[in-house]
Amino acid sequence: MASLRALLTTSMALPAAAFWRMSCGIIQTGRLDPNISPGAVSAHVHKVSGASNFGLSSTYDDLIASRCTSCEIQDDKSAYWTPQMYYQRADGSVEEVPNGGTVVYYLGRGENRENIEPFPPGFRMVSGDPFLRSNDTASVTYSDGKFLSRPVSDRVSFACLDSSGHIPEVNYMARTECDQGLRAQIQFQSCWDGRDYQLDQSHVAYLSGIDNGVCPPTHPRQLPHLFFEVYYGVADVEKEPGGRFVFAQGDPTGFGFHGDFMNGWDPDVLKEAVDLCINDDSFNGQISYCPPLAKSQTPFYATNCPERQPIVNEQVKGTVECIPGCNVVSDGPARAARLFCPDDTPSINRAADEGPLAMFEPAPGDKLGGSSVFVGCVADNGNPRPLTGASFTADNMTIEICVAFCEDKGYALAGLEYSRECYCGDSIGSATAGDCSTTSKMICAGDNTQWCGAPSLLTVWGRAVGKRNYTEEQ
Ligand SMILES: *[C@@H]1O[C@H](CO)[C@@H](O)[C@H](O)[C@H]1NC(C)=O
Ligand SMILES: *[C@@H]1O[C@H](CO)[C@@H](O)[C@H](O)[C@H]1NC(C)=O
Ligand SMILES: *[C@@H]1O[C@H](CO)[C@@H](O)[C@H](O)[C@H]1NC(C)=O
Repeated sequence: MASLRALLTTSMALPAAAFWRMSCGIIQTGRLDPNISPGAVSAHVHKVSGASNFGLSSTYDDLIASRCTSCEIQDDKSAYWTPQMYYQRADGSVEEVPNGGTVVYYLGRGENRENIEPFPPGFRMVSGDPFLRSNDTASVTYSDGKFLSRPVSDRVSFACLDSSGHIPEVNYMARTECDQGLRAQIQFQSCWDGRDYQLDQSHVAYLSGIDNGVCPPTHPRQLPHLFFEVYYGVADVEKEPGGRFVFAQGDPTGFGFHGDFMNGWDPDVLKEAVDLCINDDSFNGQISYCPPLAKSQTPFYATNCPERQPIVNEQVKGTVECIPGCNVVSDGPARAARLFCPDDTPSINRAADEGPLAMFEPAPGDKLGGSSVFVGCVADNGNPRPLTGASFTADNMTIEICVAFCEDKGYALAGLEYSRECYCGDSIGSATAGDCSTTSKMICAGDNTQWCGAPSLLTVWGRAVGKRNYTEEQ
């Protein structure tokens, strides 16, 4: 552990290393934006990370009513979203650029960082301007004379990751030939005036240096400094002459990149994490070193909280004829015009999320359907496997399917592993108990309200009735 920490310390490029860093998978893709167009189909396609109950008109109550989040920290039911990136072909059709999700940073920044307050429940903000198509040199941050201002357009940056060597980051999409991908980055406003959400974002302001410095006196309350990194697989797209990368708002420049946040944290957890961890330079972003965050951290966030069915029924993935929502590509330098689609009425899929108490959480001895009883969690290092009988793998694996399979083969025990594997046996032999906490398990591939073990972990069910009942003695 100590050497790992040392390694991470030396690889850190940031000067003040007080922050936590959270990886997130995708939870929803589509024209949704409850910050800008609540209740309506939004102007362009977003990729959303976070709370599973995210929808067209999400509020704090909706977010915290989620079954899960596609981010690592399960006590954070916030939503984080950015525009989708497409590759536009010479014929005008567009293809979704692969994107694995978002990395969200909560940083302790600014001269007043000792007084950072947690985001209030439901707090919302947008950083960036989707209509921008050139370098805005006019808008600058606050300066008090001592701490200098900075162009606000520096809130956006792009890192072209290329094997040829380090390419300096710039505030627009200067290069897209990046053999290891392109990383779009956005910094948020860290200063607040205490008012409710304002559509024009006047409730928040940037720090003088955007990621350091001071808050303007009009917005004295300091919030955690939020920063997103979004990776795009620009090297994984088949390019052609006349093709180019564009963001979903019709932006081929990147100047119009933007990010959205809606706070869905458990307020006690966020407060404790801000108090204990956001200014702690020692743990270098690692959630596992911050106890209030570590307690709901799961490595299986993407599997356990997969992307949900689209809420807006229109094709936005794969190859589509044109950018969804009448978004005409505009090169700038003038601001893009706001376009309205006259017949823009895709239907809405209102399929509800399963909700916060949907998980079946059996304790040892609890029964499922009367015929099987939960034995517990057993470590499986694979050498030898604890359950040595028949086994199979299925993409629709559930506890019932595995139990029925083992019962049919005459075994007393059925063990589930890695979301989709089933192992049978009559005894667990000398295997040791495994970590049975919620955050250490994976959902069943065929039922997202059941747990089906994890890598190297079996959740074991025994027969409560039948010829060869499972008993504690076995
Ligand atoms: C944008 O303008 C700022 C301020 O004038 C300047 O420092 C920066 O280099 C410009 N960026 C680009 C990409 O031209
Ligand atoms: C699970 O999938 C298999 C293979 O596709 C199929 O034969 C079986 O009927 C499915 N079982 C259930 C319970 O859906
Ligand atoms: C298994 O359990 C059932 C119900 O508890 C009982 O009726 C049956 O006799 C048991 N069988 C054995 C072999 O112990």
